[in-house]
Amino acid sequence: MATSLKYSGLLVLILALTLSLADADVHYHDFVVQATPVKRLCKTRSTITVNGQYPGPTLEVNNGDALVVNVVNRSRYNVTIHWHGIRQLRTAWADGPEFITQCPIRPGGSYAYRFTIEDQEGTLWWHAHSSWLRATVYGALIIYPAPGSSYPFPTADRETPILLGEWWNADPITVVRQATFSGSPPNVSDAYTINGQPGDLYSCSNTETTVVPINTGETNLLRVINSAMNQELFFMVANHDFTVVAVDASYLRPFTTSVIMLGPGQTTDVIITGDQSPGRYYMAASPYQTAQNAAFDNTTTTAILEYKSAPCPARGVPSYPVMPSLPAFNDTPTVTSFTQSLKSPQQVPVPTDIDENLFFTVGLGLFNCPPNFTPAQCQGPNGTRFTASMNNVSFVLPSTYSILQAYQQGIQGVFTTDFPPVPPVQFDYTGNVSQSLWQPVPDTKVYKLKFGSKVQIVLQDTSIVSGENHPIHIHGYDFFIIGEGFGNFDPSTDPDNFNLVDPPRRNTVGVPVNGWSVIRFVAYNPGVWLMHCHLDVHITWGLAMAFLVENGVGELETLEPPPADLPPC
Ligand code: C2O
Repeated sequence: MATSLKYSGLLVLILALTLSLADADVHYHDFVVQATPVKRLCKTRSTITVNGQYPGPTLEVNNGDALVVNVVNRSRYNVTIHWHGIRQLRTAWADGPEFITQCPIRPGGSYAYRFTIEDQEGTLWWHAHSSWLRATVYGALIIYPAPGSSYPFPTADRETPILLGEWWNADPITVVRQATFSGSPPNVSDAYTINGQPGDLYSCSNTETTVVPINTGETNLLRVINSAMNQELFFMVANHDFTVVAVDASYLRPFTTSVIMLGPGQTTDVIITGDQSPGRYYMAASPYQTAQNAAFDNTTTTAILEYKSAPCPARGVPSYPVMPSLPAFNDTPTVTSFTQSLKSPQQVPVPTDIDENLFFTVGLGLFNCPPNFTPAQCQGPNGTRFTASMNNVSFVLPSTYSILQAYQQGIQGVFTTDFPPVPPVQFDYTGNVSQSLWQPVPDTKVYKLKFGSKVQIVLQDTSIVSGENHPIHIHGYDFFIIGEGFGNFDPSTDPDNFNLVDPPRRNTVGVPVNGWSVIRFVAYNPGVWLMHCHLDVHITWGLAMAFLVENGVGELETLEPPPADLPPC
């Protein structure tokens, strides 16, 4: 009796294992990072790509699958790859930001990123997380529902990834190096792109414009990803409304709009229907720009939505696609009404009884010119250098060890754990800030979290130099956005309006210009997790910090050991 019970238990176990193995796939990929000639805007330049593709390959997996991506670095730069929005439960070693969870893959080196998709579906993406390589080293990462499950909305007839990007005629690494040398803002880009193509409104581009097909009566799920470096973007399709169904690989209560806005790092899934007269319609992206007196690339990228039944243009008669009328670059009300429409489809488990009540300022600053610097190195306003910070700490990446390795191996002197939970000085954050508060302190500080702590963070923009919408991204976690507003967060009245029922879940929140956002998450994922502004110019200036989340109890709450091929420091 005892034996047969044991035996049947074993059978059940074997059956369960076989079933889960049958369902979950392991996807192996090689990513060769290499210089490739790419021609855009009438000029060819040597461009760092993955496998010679720009944008890079699209990864398609099912929820529950595992990925092994072997990255081989054949470029002359250090490189790492980040899987933006993948939570990396217990696998922080595969997260990717250089000197946070790993040292970079040196030229000639390689590293296999191994991780599993656990309870995530929707649109994410991958990108280089080393200097400014992500300008051209990026691609879509699409997670379909697990076999046997389906979308919470009718499956569309087609699905199309739409990667919004940013193109410089100069090598982006040269652009950021010049900016870092001079202390001034980097040169703005020369074009925006849709799936790597600038589109009809730029020179030498109209023969390669991206074309997206649709048929009368068909639906197309557009998986829109903002992979631009430094620019929030509006996105529209002429004459076609969007049904918005997901953001950052989390489903939404569907709603209809004609325009969406994405900060770099964010994704938005929208369904369009072929309900217009057969023809050609532009899909277009243009900048949403909030910083005062700042140069930006004020151009518009286009692709073409083309009905397969569209009549062929008569010979010699050009037929111009219909152009959408995009919002003005500074149309914050449109952005606010969009973000306020985002709701989870049903009640969600927003943590309450908060253990860590954090208040982080996010914003820019100006350093006085250091005595050993030349005027050429202090090209900011009045001979200063641009900087940025959270809670007055301008984040400095380590250069000898990654923070995660230093923590795990007990190596001293790489970082400290005294990142301040609140700003060192309270002031009127969005008012006229005294110049004495414009210079942050450069340092490598993390904030320690106990496993399982319930965290609330008020992210408060400052008006230092200029207020600006900052897309703040956290690695390793999704979070609920329970509130946002303009001006200074008021702890006595604003919590009354928190949405603790059906707030949206994201991995990147656009903190309103001269305003605030409040986010909550539970720290169930051990490791070191970077939180930063996803405008690369701001992370370059130090608009970042990191959380160090301790292990919990037992194997399932403990970071895995480092992989044997983790790049040496
Ligand atoms: Cu899209 Cu630090 O990442």
